[in-house]
Amino acid sequence: MFFNRPILAIETSCDETSAALVIGHELRSNVIASQVEMHAKWGGIVPEAASRAHVESIIPVLREAMGNMPLTDLGAIAVTNRPGLIGALSVGLSAAKALSLRFQIPLLGIHHLEGHLLSICSQWPEAMAQTPILSLIASGGHTELVRVDGLGEYTILAETLDDAAGEAFDKGARLLGLGYPGGAAIESLAREGDRKRYSLPQGMRHAPEHFSFSGLKTAVLRLVEKEGAALDRAGAAASLQHAVVEALARKVEDAIAPEFRALSLVGGVAANTALRARLHDIATRKEIPFYVPERSLCTDNAAMIGLAASLRLARGQRHDASLDAYPNSPLPAAE
Ligand code: KG4
Ligand code: ZN
Repeated sequence: MFFNRPILAIETSCDETSAALVIGHELRSNVIASQVEMHAKWGGIVPEAASRAHVESIIPVLREAMGNMPLTDLGAIAVTNRPGLIGALSVGLSAAKALSLRFQIPLLGIHHLEGHLLSICSQWPEAMAQTPILSLIASGGHTELVRVDGLGEYTILAETLDDAAGEAFDKGARLLGLGYPGGAAIESLAREGDRKRYSLPQGMRHAPEHFSFSGLKTAVLRLVEKEGAALDRAGAAASLQHAVVEALARKVEDAIAPEFRALSLVGGVAANTALRARLHDIATRKEIPFYVPERSLCTDNAAMIGLAASLRLARGQRHDASLDAYPNSPLPAAE
C-alpha cells in the first residue's frame, strides 16, 4: 500500500519551509523552518516576504532533511503544488523539479489538504483500509468536513462560508492583543479563563453543510469595544475557544452516521487540546477509533506530503517537469 523507496517531500505552500524523508509510512526526518516570527511583526502573512524567506531556507532545510542519504538513493520527490500562495508554492516546486531533472528522480505533485488528510497514516498506517472515515480538516485556510472512502475518494460534507476555524483563532487573538498566529496563544490563555464568561455565537448551528466564523469575529470585536479595560481576557479567550470547538464538534456530531468506521481530526487547529478532547469523546461514544496526528504533524509540514505521496507512488502515479502550481484547487481524485 505504501511506496517502499525513500521519498524526499517538500512543502512551501504558506509560511513554513519544510522537507521530510519518508520511507513507506515511516518518517526519517521532518524539518520545518517557520516564518512565524517574521510575519508576527506584520500581524499576518505577507506573501512576497513568505516567498523570499522560502528561497533563503529551502536549500538548508533540504540538506538537513536528507542527512547522510545521497540524493541518488531517492525513489521519488514529492512536492505540494496546490493550493497555496503561488509565489511560495513555486519555490518548493522549482527545487523539486531541479532535483528531479538533475538526478532523474520521479516527481509527484501533492494537494496540500490531501497531505493533512493522510497525515494520520504515520501513526495509523492501516487507516485507509478501514473506510469510510469522517475527517475534519481545520486549519488557517480551510475548514472542511470530509467523507474519506479511500485514496482520492473524498466527498465534502460541510465547508466554511467565510473564515476558517484557524482564522477565527487568529483574528480573535489579534483583537485580544495576543499577536500572530493566535491559536496556541488563545489556547494557553483560555486555560486560565471560564468558557462560560461570555456568550459568543457558534455560527450556522442548523446548516449541516456550512460553517461560519465571521460572526464570531464581529462578536469578539464588539465585546472588546464594549468591555474596554474591564475585559476579562482569559474569559474571552476561553469563550472564543469554546465557541470554535462547539461549532466544529456539533457539525461532526450531526454528520457521524453509523457507517463511519473512524473519526479523524487534522490541520493546524487539530493541535488544540480542547478540540482533540471533544472529538475524542464523540468517537468514544460511537465506539470507533479516533485518529489525530501528534501536534508537530498537525500544523504545516512536509512529512504529511511524503505520506500522501507514498500512497500515490505505490499506485504508480508520477508527474513530469510540466507540473504546475495552483493557488486554488478542489480535493484531488484517485486518478
Ligand atoms: O495547517 P496550518 O499549519 O496551516 C494552514 O494550512 O492553514 O494551520 C495553521 C492554523 C493557524 O490559524 C493557527 O492559529 C492554528 O492553525 N493553530 C491552532 C493551534 N495551533 C495552531 N488553533 C488552535 N489551537 C492551537 N493550539
Ligand atoms: Zn495546512
